[in-house]
Amino acid sequence: MKFPEGFLWGGATAANQYEGGWNEGGKGWSVSDCAKAHFDTDVTNFSAHNEITSEEIQYAMEHPEDMVNYPKRHGSDFYHHYKEDIALMAEMGFKVFRMSIAWSRIYLNGDDLEPNEEGLQFYDNVFDECKKYGIEPLVTMSHYEPPLNLVLKYNCWYNRKTIDFFCKFVETICTRYKDKVKYWLTFNEVDSMIRHPYTTGGLIRDRFKDKNFEEVIFQSMHHQFVASALATKICHEIIPGSQVGCMLTKLTYYPYSCRPEDVLEMQQKMRSIYCYSDTQVFGEYPAYLLARFKNHGLNIVMEEKDLEIMKKYPVDFISFSYYMSSCVAKNTEGLDTTEGNTVTAIKNPYLPSSEWGWQIDPIGLRISLVDLYDRYRKPLFIVENGLGAKEELVPDGKGSYTVNDDYHIDYYKAHFKAMYDAIHEDGVELLGYTSWACIDLVSESTKQMSKRYGFVYVDADDYGKGTYNRYKKKSFYWYKHVIETNGECL
Ligand code: BG6
Repeated sequence: MKFPEGFLWGGATAANQYEGGWNEGGKGWSVSDCAKAHFDTDVTNFSAHNEITSEEIQYAMEHPEDMVNYPKRHGSDFYHHYKEDIALMAEMGFKVFRMSIAWSRIYLNGDDLEPNEEGLQFYDNVFDECKKYGIEPLVTMSHYEPPLNLVLKYNCWYNRKTIDFFCKFVETICTRYKDKVKYWLTFNEVDSMIRHPYTTGGLIRDRFKDKNFEEVIFQSMHHQFVASALATKICHEIIPGSQVGCMLTKLTYYPYSCRPEDVLEMQQKMRSIYCYSDTQVFGEYPAYLLARFKNHGLNIVMEEKDLEIMKKYPVDFISFSYYMSSCVAKNTEGLDTTEGNTVTAIKNPYLPSSEWGWQIDPIGLRISLVDLYDRYRKPLFIVENGLGAKEELVPDGKGSYTVNDDYHIDYYKAHFKAMYDAIHEDGVELLGYTSWACIDLVSESTKQMSKRYGFVYVDADDYGKGTYNRYKKKSFYWYKHVIETNGECL
């Protein structure tokens, strides 16, 4: 199972869940600093909270000392552990490290005239550390972290002005890191505006009482599409040879039965997923979205040049997250449902599930790779894939601690086999793979630390208590061997 030469093996993180240091180094408030955990006695049943009210934001801002209810403020404290973490990644042999830049660390309020030098220096240090070990950074420009001031003052992505603020940020980071970063992603899971409009777009529903919220969401997304195209342009101009990708939540649905009604349901569902990458790859709105705008009476305001810009600057490659699959049916009565990546859907009786109900389906990854490649004929990059699990440290027999996470190894093994088949049998061009998350971090949906994905255990609990020491899990050594042999050991 040798992978193509130069295959970029690595791991992924995002500042809003991993970086911490939320009020250090001059950083401003971001939407994620106000994202509250909803504790529950059943650890697998934390309520996913995707919306926020103005009142809740006010409360969060009045409690800057509260690190328990706002776990993204501490994340895994990469801010103070970056040298150690990058050394661990290097020990595993990482070729690539996916991370994001916290916009509010560079422009504290989003609309500042000057960037924050201390913030810029922090990422300089991170990239220099990567360079030391020959690790290529893959940087997401925006991963759930718009500056809070843009939300409060401008309604964030609903406001066209945010395109300009974002472009200024992009110009700053591309100029500063032009010799250090070649691979970029514009917006993490750009489609997630629909499922969590606050984290992705900085939209607070109670501010739009007199508006159709679906229209607000798609208007904001339109602004992100234009901003993404402009970011691609800026990046290409400042960094010759740079590669810019879109990032899609690759949800995968099967028809629950072979009834034509269920198959049609599946096709419609999949169109509702591909339409976002279609827009960024083909540079124009697909029929599905145009029909939706029309049929739902959505009046999306577009300036004259918007469509031209989108057409002129499409992305170079397609990146996506893939965790699970689920089913759809025309008649859902009596069918079991289960959780997934920000969705609840019909359970597939043929698949096992994680402790959080996400259905494990490596074949679904192969299907996704083939579908995306046949659709776009551009290189693909898997930038998130993994399994969240509840874990406990045990003595490793050498005076330290470890986790015997065979379930992670089994999960990865099956998914790597699917990738290999897609490359070798189906002819898919796959640039690389970054697992989510290579080091434990705070979950996006449930804000738990105890939903652990990493090869490295971070000693912190759901309340932020712990030493934040790092411990290598069994999968750490296993992944190291996979990278060392470029898959041949599989
Ligand atoms: C993706 C996001 O949707 O899924 C990540 O890009 C997120 O930010 C990941 O962490 C896993 O989801 P969760 O809810 O288990 O953290």
